[in-house]
Amino acid sequence: MSSSHPWWRHAVVYQVYLRSFSDGDGDGTGDIAGLRLRLPYIRSLGVDAIWINPWYVSPLNDGGYDVADYRRIDPRFGTLEDAIGLIEEASGLGLRVLLDLVPNHTSTDHVWFQEALASAPGGKARARYHFRPGRGPGGAEPPTDWISVFGGRTWSRVGDGEWYLHLFDSTQPDLNWAHPEVRAEFLDIIRFWLERGASGFRVDVANGLEKDPSYPDVGAVDKPKGIPGGDLHPYSDRDPLHEIVREWRSVVDEYPEAILVAEAWVENWDRLARYLRPDEYHQAFNFEFMEAPWTEEAMKSAISIAVPASAAMGAVPTWVLSNHDIVRQVTRYGLPQTLDARDWLLDGDRELFDPGLGLRRAKAAALLMLGLPGSAYIYQGEELGLPEVHDLPLEFLDDPTYTRSEQTMKGRDGCRVPIPWTAEGGSFGFGTDGSWLPQPADWGGLSVESQEGVPDSMLELYRTAIRLRDQHLAGSESFEWVEACVGCLAFQRESVLVVVNFGPESTVMPEGEILLASSRLVEDRLPPDTTAWLGV
Ligand code: GLC
Repeated sequence: MSSSHPWWRHAVVYQVYLRSFSDGDGDGTGDIAGLRLRLPYIRSLGVDAIWINPWYVSPLNDGGYDVADYRRIDPRFGTLEDAIGLIEEASGLGLRVLLDLVPNHTSTDHVWFQEALASAPGGKARARYHFRPGRGPGGAEPPTDWISVFGGRTWSRVGDGEWYLHLFDSTQPDLNWAHPEVRAEFLDIIRFWLERGASGFRVDVANGLEKDPSYPDVGAVDKPKGIPGGDLHPYSDRDPLHEIVREWRSVVDEYPEAILVAEAWVENWDRLARYLRPDEYHQAFNFEFMEAPWTEEAMKSAISIAVPASAAMGAVPTWVLSNHDIVRQVTRYGLPQTLDARDWLLDGDRELFDPGLGLRRAKAAALLMLGLPGSAYIYQGEELGLPEVHDLPLEFLDDPTYTRSEQTMKGRDGCRVPIPWTAEGGSFGFGTDGSWLPQPADWGGLSVESQEGVPDSMLELYRTAIRLRDQHLAGSESFEWVEACVGCLAFQRESVLVVVNFGPESTVMPEGEILLASSRLVEDRLPPDTTAWLGV
């Protein structure tokens, strides 16, 4: 179905976690050369664009979200020439390239932070960050009681006694967005990459940029996940940050097809909608959908609120089932739905995980998501049905969450294990031999090679769904709930009816031509944990 809408309103975007995607030079770390080799594969999925996690110069203390130089590529990933070549090559295949913009913090290796360290307390170079004196006798207590997203305090002390703010790891100092040089620098970085062919940016920690200049306490004792905030919150989702977004948007609008996508962890849709105002972000991830348990009620509620709330802003919803920060959906959906999978990872009862059920539900969820109006993001390996590698040995953990949480949270490495491309071989085709995180011994059975051309495989389900979506749905933003069967969630999109059976029993389906189903139908009945697309 051809569409008169801008590309991003119905795009399927494939997220590439470069470090774990494909290793072109055999050093165990994914890189641009490896990604270039695999572009035809990405193209074969039928997606419209790729989003590449940070590839800039970085000590990789937080997987590259600790940027030391925003205009250069980390040598482990390649060179600037490689990056430009990749963007050109992708574009030749009809794939747009979105990059990751990390404006909330830099790395402590960034030249600005090094200058700040070299200057005296109160010095000009410190004003680009949040440096403060401490509290209590000798200033030995941190300036506020804020708790880092990764656990521990948000303040670290430097040799001369001042403290600097870091909402994440201590090697990720927060920038001061009230500083004109910070604002000018990022406008320039945005332009730098748009000039080199990028189609826009996923913006990291979009809710975090503004801090209350009076640095009040929040009274937080614990910070389990996210930082929802709100206008009165000292460091999350504060209203003045929207002015910054408008500045970015005016530059982005000089490049007609380019977009901004917000990673904004906020309290509710009322707050999220603000990021979607016509002169701000084009898209904002719907994390409520991603975090919803596999129940009819939770899924229906996440969809019901997103569709009209986005439409009210003239936007469309942006669906996502996983990314590099959360437990993969095969594992999430294969656990009891009352459990928080993040907590289970470290030492939860392994018997609770049912991989078959998780895979079946992940398939159903894929057809649910790809049937919805708006844009959808797929995280590498999701199309292979990879589970979380929950049993990664502790000595391999790389995510700062594990140490910063004082070993109470296992962290996000289990969803970042390198992709299996082939059924056999040292690293299942990821590179030559090893990989920076060990792959499970049975990973080959989930490889691209093992699934390619296999009708019931997850890979072929994603391919077919994306093709049918293009054919039947991409040109339309219509959406209407339908009462189809007991225990089902059903909605109508143009001439396609999407039906999901959340109930425990198989059910009679509404009449229609079966276009696609996430598991085998039994005598035309829709089995539990199955989604079907019907032509009606
Ligand atoms: C975002 C990224 C996450 C990173 C954090 C700090 O949430 O997705 O991976 O650790 O920001 O930059």
